[in-house]
Amino acid sequence: MGDLSVTALYTCQTWISAGLGCAELFAMPDAKGVFDATNAALALSRKLRPELPSLRASLLARHAMIDHVLAATAPRRVLELAAGFSARGARTTNQPGVEYVELDLPNVARKKRALLEATAAGRAVLARVSYRLQEGDALVFPLDAALRGEGPRLVIAEGLVPYLDANARRTLFTRVAAALREAGGGTFVFERVPDEELPAEGAVGGALGWAMRRFTKGQGFAKDAKSRAVLRAELATAGFDEVVVTTPADDASALGAAPAGERAQVVLFVARVA
Ligand SMILES: C[S@@+](CC[C@H](N)C(=O)[O-])C[C@H]1O[C@@H](n2cnc3c(N)ncnc32)[C@H](O)[C@@H]1O
Repeated sequence: MGDLSVTALYTCQTWISAGLGCAELFAMPDAKGVFDATNAALALSRKLRPELPSLRASLLARHAMIDHVLAATAPRRVLELAAGFSARGARTTNQPGVEYVELDLPNVARKKRALLEATAAGRAVLARVSYRLQEGDALVFPLDAALRGEGPRLVIAEGLVPYLDANARRTLFTRVAAALREAGGGTFVFERVPDEELPAEGAVGGALGWAMRRFTKGQGFAKDAKSRAVLRAELATAGFDEVVVTTPADDASALGAAPAGERAQVVLFVARVA
């Protein structure tokens, strides 16, 4: 798999290696290979620049912070965009009362379905009426159907917004706000570290950025959202009524999820349509 699906392989193995519930359903050799190769490169960069935030700690903190928003929202409907090989949908629909729709691009959604079809536990997840796995591009796919019906409603985009440039962000934010408004209101959660808070690249960071752009066929991180204020303004223009920003320091579940001694960097945006 090329493009951004490679990044989903890395996060897939991160969830497995941390022992997150249902993550084993998506175990595959490709994910282990990408995880090991990336970690070898990152170990070198951390040796040279130990002050850098840890990718693993940041991913685990972000996942826990989004789980926290999920628990606090107690939604009836969840639409998870760019769900990749995340097991959150499988985990959440273990309990009754939540309708969960996952969306990703066709190559990833098909692979995820194939992995679920390959085991009895996976087939049991696919058989739930409360769980749906859909193929589509979050920037064009109709979002309202998954949110229609009684609330509360939650839209999750984990590991997607950092790759979107300002135009694509505007499209995504406007579509999510409109779909939530149409459905009767709800919450949108995503993470994005503003450019001015990112560590300076330096030679090692530059090399990793170059490797990542090659890996993802040019889709590295976008660098056009300077500050939290820029993202807040984009969300307000898109139609959100209220935005709360949190970091691991505000959330005990994030601190508990990150491995001891490793620094997590996450900036989480929780935006609401009344
Ligand atoms: C970094 S991975 C994150 C996967 C998952 N959310 C997680 O945290 O494990 C990025 C995911 O975004 C998906 N993606 C990228 N652009 C997308 C788009 N326009 N619509 C839907 N999914 C997209 C990729 O296929 C990939 O699965």
